[in-house]
Amino acid sequence: MIAVVGLGFVGLTTALGFCEKGNQVFGYDINSEKAALISNKKLPFFEDGLQEVLEKHLGNNFKLASSIENAVKDAQVIILCVGTPSDANGKADLKYIKSAIDKILSTIDKKDKKILITKSTIPPSTTAKEIIPYIEKKGFKAGKDIFVANNPEFLREGHAWDDFINPDRIVIGTDDEYTKSIMTEIYKNFNVPIHFVSLNTGEFIKYLSNTFLATLISYSNEMSIIADHIGGIDVKSAFKIFHEDKRWYGNPANMQTYAYPGCGFGGYCLPKDTQAIVAKAEEYGYDSKILKNVLKVNSEIKPHWISKISADINKTDAITVLGLSFKPESDDVRQTPAYEIINLLLKSGFKNIIAYDPLANELFDKIYNLPIKYANTLEDAIKVSDTIVIATGWKEFIKNKNLFKNKNVYDLRYIL
Ligand SMILES: NC(=O)c1ccc[n+]([C@@H]2O[C@H](COP(=O)([O-])OP(=O)(O)OC[C@H]3O[C@@H](n4cnc5c(N)ncnc54)[C@H](O)[C@@H]3O)[C@@H](O)[C@H]2O)c1
Repeated sequence: MIAVVGLGFVGLTTALGFCEKGNQVFGYDINSEKAALISNKKLPFFEDGLQEVLEKHLGNNFKLASSIENAVKDAQVIILCVGTPSDANGKADLKYIKSAIDKILSTIDKKDKKILITKSTIPPSTTAKEIIPYIEKKGFKAGKDIFVANNPEFLREGHAWDDFINPDRIVIGTDDEYTKSIMTEIYKNFNVPIHFVSLNTGEFIKYLSNTFLATLISYSNEMSIIADHIGGIDVKSAFKIFHEDKRWYGNPANMQTYAYPGCGFGGYCLPKDTQAIVAKAEEYGYDSKILKNVLKVNSEIKPHWISKISADINKTDAITVLGLSFKPESDDVRQTPAYEIINLLLKSGFKNIIAYDPLANELFDKIYNLPIKYANTLEDAIKVSDTIVIATGWKEFIKNKNLFKNKNVYDLRYIL
């Protein structure tokens, strides 16, 4: 039995979605007008496909509760779908979450060991640092009297029903096995991967998604502003043709490799071309915001890694840097991030650096002439140090994962 608290776009869709998948769901919304509409089988908002399922399930699998107490008393899983608007400082305002929790805790029994899931969008660390302490202050021990987890929702308004019923993946932020087993049960008919991750990771994944989309939109808008400043550019056709790039559509070179963290972009094109369009926009009177910061973040990511390494490793220790070309399966070392990484390591006092690249050792040495040693094979490179820094994501490194056992690896490309 599931209780859904808050029956807005997300809550009503969630409630009816779980009914459709064969669960019994109690729904409750504090807004009596909204509740009255729903009880009359009327949607409080437009969402394609939802009317039919409301009519189908209301009074059957879906019961509208007149109070939060009635909604949660028989439910094993309570799903919070209340709003999380911005407060005056731009932070996520948790007032609706906290007030729903107050009511829930005043009605449930510790021995029922209910699972409280936040489906509302909450910033990373909120469950661990705000929700759990808030609940514990009220006398419930998390992981014993109540189980607290998050389960971000990725539906798009306008496609809410289809997105909920046919999701790409399900993410559950939880640290305990009991919650995992119950959530596996309630999501068992969805036939998609269920990812159990840490509390913070669950919350983070939702923000990865939304901030990425927001960035793409502002990026596109900034490019349209630059185009207008330069003039003679048909923005609409330019974007249409841009979308024909096969990287949007999947293998062999899809967009995922770009929406991926690492130690920055390099090579012949991305750095110089981004710089050039920033300069051209300036020439035409527009001071770019996003593109300038794209370059700034690209330089900041390298010292960020070096400070992590410097904090852990003695300056006298040997460090092996794997990968010297700017990207795998290429020997191009122009503007390669590996140069900056090694240079920063040298500058911060590391003297014993051994480098290895499947193709680019000689070229890198010739062009940059750094005071480091080179290894001829991956095995030799790994053998000589306890600390390994992966600067380029070569397949050879992934294939030989076993060589990295018992090593302190800084995987700057997140490949292992
Ligand atoms: N709308 C989307 O496309 C979308 C997608 C994914 C995630 N989210 C997130 O899901 C959450 C809900 O979004 P929404 O668009 O459904 O919001 P919404 O405003 O449509 O719905 C929230 C509902 O919660 C109710 N509510 C508030 N306090 C309550 C309480 N104490 N008890 C019972 N009901 C209460 C409100 O009356 C309202 O009907 C937000 O955190 C949002 O960021 C939204």
